[in-house]
Amino acid sequence: MKKILLFCYTVAALQGFSSCSSNQPKEDYSWLKNAIDTSVQQLEETVADVGDSVLLPRAIWTGYDMDFLCNQLQRDPSTFKDSLRVKPIKASIGSRRYCGSIYDWTSGFFPGNLWYAYQLTGKENLKASAAKFTNYLYPVRKYTGTHDIGFMMNCSYGNANRLAPADSIQSILVQTADNLCDRFNPNIGCIRSWDFGKWNFPVIIDNMMNLDLLFYVNHLTNNPKYKDIALKHAETTLKNHFREDYSSYHVVSYKNDGNVELKCTHQGKNDDSSWARGQAWGVYGYTSCYRESKDTLFLQQAKNIANMIMKCVKTDDAIPLWDYDAPDMPETPRDASAASITASALIELSTLIEDGQVYLDYAEKLLKSLSSDAYLAKVGTNQGFILMHSVGSLPNGSEIDTPINYADYYYLEALIRYMQVKGLDYKSL
Ligand code: GLY
Repeated sequence: MKKILLFCYTVAALQGFSSCSSNQPKEDYSWLKNAIDTSVQQLEETVADVGDSVLLPRAIWTGYDMDFLCNQLQRDPSTFKDSLRVKPIKASIGSRRYCGSIYDWTSGFFPGNLWYAYQLTGKENLKASAAKFTNYLYPVRKYTGTHDIGFMMNCSYGNANRLAPADSIQSILVQTADNLCDRFNPNIGCIRSWDFGKWNFPVIIDNMMNLDLLFYVNHLTNNPKYKDIALKHAETTLKNHFREDYSSYHVVSYKNDGNVELKCTHQGKNDDSSWARGQAWGVYGYTSCYRESKDTLFLQQAKNIANMIMKCVKTDDAIPLWDYDAPDMPETPRDASAASITASALIELSTLIEDGQVYLDYAEKLLKSLSSDAYLAKVGTNQGFILMHSVGSLPNGSEIDTPINYADYYYLEALIRYMQVKGLDYKSL
């Protein structure tokens, strides 16, 4: 794969990136151009709509129907704890949902979307908007209450530093990474995910995504502490989160001596099911770990999870149901966020190995599905979000079959990675 890519890059460079071989017809990338143009217009309209209010778009408010939830979860209504579920105000259903505060775990994605749209097109207005929304998160550099500071700050300030580097941004990232490292327990070998709930020391598969902040700060500082902690966390998670078929539990809680207290779910169908986004976080996280460590244990894990995902998907368009074990019925919601995270991960995975074509092909299928009318919003609709049809937390009655900012984030990231692999740039589409 690597050799093929190198060959394509060389030939494409000689041909002005026109195509891999002059004998082949030029590939039709109109779907890609439409995806980027739609994304940019949606983001620009949202920026205009939000104006100078300190608000970060997150999703669209949805309600839920109890019978529907019970059918999806195959549970008796009497087993529900009503207090756990989000109860949207009826009048708000269908309107734009903003992050509750800058400390919401999704607060970094909207600024990140603007950075990615800027990277894709070079449009200066997007860069200015990205910087403005990123700066709203400045106080988060001192926040220590969740592992999600990795998502929040790497997607906003991390992209800011990549695309418009500044010493002041680097110190923000270092401070955040130090706070994330303070959540690492050496007896357990993991970073603690949550500070709420019934668990002694909860670690969720999503935590694999926060490691990229540590890898990035390792590169910025050359201090091995960040990478060592990240890789130890990945190693412990590999040992305890996965089942024989490489699907993963959502939550593993540890006792203080490092033994496992319990394994369960918080957002999946049931404790033993395979929550779709969790599997996506896993393949993405282990791909990052291999990129940074070149440890083949992590590569094999990434491939195993990717193969499991490709085997378990039940839909023709490859966009997974919200849980791989959800009932296979027409009304079961799909999760575009899981698809966009998987697409982004598999494109990167394909570039790290010789035999990566199968992963690139699958990612391309996901991207084409997401870029179709079934998932990509029409300009001016969908409250300004790019993709429709994600699921946040079905068991908690939250964000069911709705756009969500992180689906858009990983979609844009996947588009960027796809264009890099294909040697494309926006202006030549
Ligand atoms: N990290 C929370 C989620 O994936 O919903």
